[in-house]
Amino acid sequence: KITAEITAIGGFVPETVLDNKALEQMVDTSDEWIISRTGIQERRILSDKSLATSDMAVFAIQNLLETSGLNADEIECLVLATSTPDHVLAPAASMVVNKAGLKNAWGFDLNSACSGFLYALSIGSSLVESGRHKKVLVVGVDQMSAIVNYKDRNTCILFGDGAGAVLLEPAQGDTGIKDHYFKTDGNGVNYLSVPAGGSLYPASQETLDQKKHYVFQDGRTVFKAAIKEMSNSCLEIMQRNNLASDDVQWLVPHQANLRIISAVSHALDFPIEKVKINIQRYGNTTAATIPLCLWDFKDDFKPGDNVLLTAFGAGFTWGCTYLRW
Ligand code: ACO
Repeated sequence: KITAEITAIGGFVPETVLDNKALEQMVDTSDEWIISRTGIQERRILSDKSLATSDMAVFAIQNLLETSGLNADEIECLVLATSTPDHVLAPAASMVVNKAGLKNAWGFDLNSACSGFLYALSIGSSLVESGRHKKVLVVGVDQMSAIVNYKDRNTCILFGDGAGAVLLEPAQGDTGIKDHYFKTDGNGVNYLSVPAGGSLYPASQETLDQKKHYVFQDGRTVFKAAIKEMSNSCLEIMQRNNLASDDVQWLVPHQANLRIISAVSHALDFPIEKVKINIQRYGNTTAATIPLCLWDFKDDFKPGDNVLLTAFGAGFTWGCTYLRW
């Protein structure tokens, strides 16, 4: 049986920093409130208006190719997780294939919000496990600054822009992606969405006037559901793979709120030292948080380490992936 493993990682965050002090000038908030409620100190924003989501994905892929010594034409498939494609119609993956010079690859977008990277990793690993492909790129990328209302203090403090990329190849030993657990609940649309711009509420003067093209979130409801479902999906994976807390070396959770991350690590009986956290620097980059964490901390993962990845996002969508490094 073929198993897929992550053999290279790349990342990209824009240079422009939006810190809490700058947000104090934009909305009625404070550095102290943001840090104590979310753990976020600053986030990166793609300020160059000539660039978009596909460009961040390309930069992350170029970083991966440079550090791994691979050529772009060796890539066979690109699975691109994003909720903020350059266009509503025409997949961002198509732009990325061209701009990154992946001339032997086909690619497609996958939209599952903050869980998108894990869902994409599952699809990408299936393509390797089936023997269909040997080199699959999985990218998580979002330009949240394009859909956030910087006059809404409930949401604008949370999000940032960025991209992370991993390469999946057939594993050589007892390493690689071992298991996935995913769930989806459409009732979540009532608590977290960008209401307009799709087929239900196409863009109109009314949707523009009502600011329906920006992220809407009932933070409390999302907060509680995120803790419950990320914890439960990790526990499910641990149970069915006979993993006790001590058997897991690292937890890499979606970075939405430091208090959510702390509550999940507590529920799993993981000391916080085993949990990878970079939310203080990047905020919530939606599909990019987990690959950006893998990129940031890649030197910490040692061969044989058991790693759990977990996410929760709009939809609602959630789940956990278990891999051995
Ligand atoms: N600055 C100051 N005060 C604020 C701010 C702010 N930026 N934002 C909200 N407040 C106020 C509220 O108005 C409220 O005031 P009130 O009591 O007078 O009404 C008070 O602070 C408390 O508001 P809550 O929303 O209850 O605050 P909470 O502690 O829940 O924190 C937060 C809000 C940070 C949004 C939290 O609920 C959260 O992180 N939710 C989950 C986010 C998440 O996981 N999203 C999922 C993924 S995103 C995706 O899929 C795209």
